[in-house]
Amino acid sequence: MARMAISIPFLGLIFLCSFATLISGGRHGTYMKYKDPKQRIRVRVQDLLQRMTIEEKIGQMTQIERVNATQKVMRKYSIGSVLSGGGSAPAKHASPKQWLQMTNKIQRASLTTRLGIPMIYGIDAVHGHNNVYKATIFPHNVGLGVTRDAYLVKRIGAATALEVRATGIPYAFAPCIAVCRDPRWGRCYESYSEDHKIVQMMTEIIPGLQGDVPSKLRGTPFVAGKTKVAACAKHFVGDGGTVKGINENDTIVSSTELYNIHMPAYKDSIAKGVATVMASYSSLKGVKMHGNHKMLTSYLKNKLGFKGFVISDWQALDKMTYPPHSNYTYSVQASILAGVDMVMVPYNYTEFIDILTDLVNKKVIPMSRINDAVRRILRVKFSMGLFEDPIADKSLVKKLGCKKHRELAREAVRKSLVLLKNGKSVREPLLPLPKKAPKILVAGTHADNLGYQCGGWTIEWQGRSGNNLTAGTTILKAIKKTVDCSTKVVFKENPDSDYVKSHNFSYAIVVVGELPYAETMGDNKNLTLPKPGPEVIQNVCRSIKCVVVIVSGRPLVIEKYVPEVDALVAAWLPGSEGQGVADVLFGDYGFTGKLARTWFKRVDQLPMNVGDPHYDPLFPFGFGLETKPVSNH
Ligand code: GLC
Repeated sequence: MARMAISIPFLGLIFLCSFATLISGGRHGTYMKYKDPKQRIRVRVQDLLQRMTIEEKIGQMTQIERVNATQKVMRKYSIGSVLSGGGSAPAKHASPKQWLQMTNKIQRASLTTRLGIPMIYGIDAVHGHNNVYKATIFPHNVGLGVTRDAYLVKRIGAATALEVRATGIPYAFAPCIAVCRDPRWGRCYESYSEDHKIVQMMTEIIPGLQGDVPSKLRGTPFVAGKTKVAACAKHFVGDGGTVKGINENDTIVSSTELYNIHMPAYKDSIAKGVATVMASYSSLKGVKMHGNHKMLTSYLKNKLGFKGFVISDWQALDKMTYPPHSNYTYSVQASILAGVDMVMVPYNYTEFIDILTDLVNKKVIPMSRINDAVRRILRVKFSMGLFEDPIADKSLVKKLGCKKHRELAREAVRKSLVLLKNGKSVREPLLPLPKKAPKILVAGTHADNLGYQCGGWTIEWQGRSGNNLTAGTTILKAIKKTVDCSTKVVFKENPDSDYVKSHNFSYAIVVVGELPYAETMGDNKNLTLPKPGPEVIQNVCRSIKCVVVIVSGRPLVIEKYVPEVDALVAAWLPGSEGQGVADVLFGDYGFTGKLARTWFKRVDQLPMNVGDPHYDPLFPFGFGLETKPVSNH
């Protein structure tokens, strides 16, 4: 009888617990469809979604900065994503292995959550893996647009993906497909061109980053495994068309301009399987994009059929109100209802989670919206194999900054240069320069400064001056490596005219330009050539033959200098491989680049873009002189 003493209720409890465990997919290896890679992604998503609690769902929608991503936080809040903001690294000059240790440690915390959903780590790899010491730094997009070489840009995407994966990161907030219509915008160098057709061409970087989307999957998020990364088309939409180029401001354009200029590259990106889209800080005719349901949901998701996830920009919810963060409940409600799926919070994540949970519990935000957001996030994570390969290995570490990638960057530098003037008359071109000459002068603030030639978004968010910020070749070093061994190269950053006259130089190379900047810090109303550039040009070029190389994120006001120089080159922001500049200056390769931006005369002409009725440029869109390579001169 004792054995019979076990009561029926107790037996019922046993049955219920085991049934619940079976359904909920307990820890002990019971079969769970979502963990089965043989299942279709749609099935895996649905199986996982129906197992998730509201807390787990909102956790997936939350992206936090790495400094907050402790194992406790990752587990307690089921955080779905972590990022490195501009310049945010595990240590100064951190090695790929240190990056791997960091990302894997965070990931292991995510994998020990109840359902073991891997987190996705994102970073701004916008011209190579630019946060990471000794990564290859490619030319910024303003220079890549000049190449009009889609295959080159696809190869750059593939190289960048390998270097990003070398640090254990599977997601890059790139490409920026802004169509910059006013160079006063501090982010104009992140834009490939003022011409949307060039920007559309450059979306080839997406299959470079993610892999070629199979035809049957065209238009759906696609990332081809461990050597590729999820990409992010940004910033949707019209970020490059704000009033006077004021960053994060209002884009007041007609529907024709919006859909014919700023939108086309998003259609290409979606067709190419872009996994994510980042919403723009800017507004469209007064409506904040982060709260714009018509654009984020009705157009991007429903009309264009975007199936990946929409991520907010950094603290963009805070900036939906003025003063920022003055009504965060409204910001959360408006952005999630508008169609933001993942929020780059990235610091006040408990506040975000609490407010969103409350809005869902009060049915202000329907569970259907949450389920749509989480479905999209899971679809990307499943499609890129993150559940099967959440932990990075060291196999790609050697790819970071490897010679092959640096040679690719050097090729991109060569093709990005634009020759604006060559000789005071056609009959006496100065370029290509002779490698053999008794003595030559190299002058200017940007000749021997790796930080200047890389520009913003390099190691630090704003970039910085100096040669120790990462590994690379300055333009001066490249010149010294290129000239004949008998040629004496003298470097003087800011020589006075007496010095120049008294040294009997054969010719001079003057490298000047803008100091590094990013985002609003780069907004600029006058676009003059920063000091001491004008002085260096005057002191050198009034005394001897000179070629001036301008290192800048955009065209500048230079009309008055043109008559004084013998040759003039736009080098944009070439990145770590300055050798590409010397390759072309000395004729190992010819100049081929054509302006992808109108070179205006005065800022009072702006905005002025190719096709405008009143078009009076200093150098027109598409302009670029050519030279032929010279064999062993
Ligand atoms: C920045 C930029 C965006 C970047 C993000 C994360 O503010 O607007 O392009 O991806 O924050 O760094």
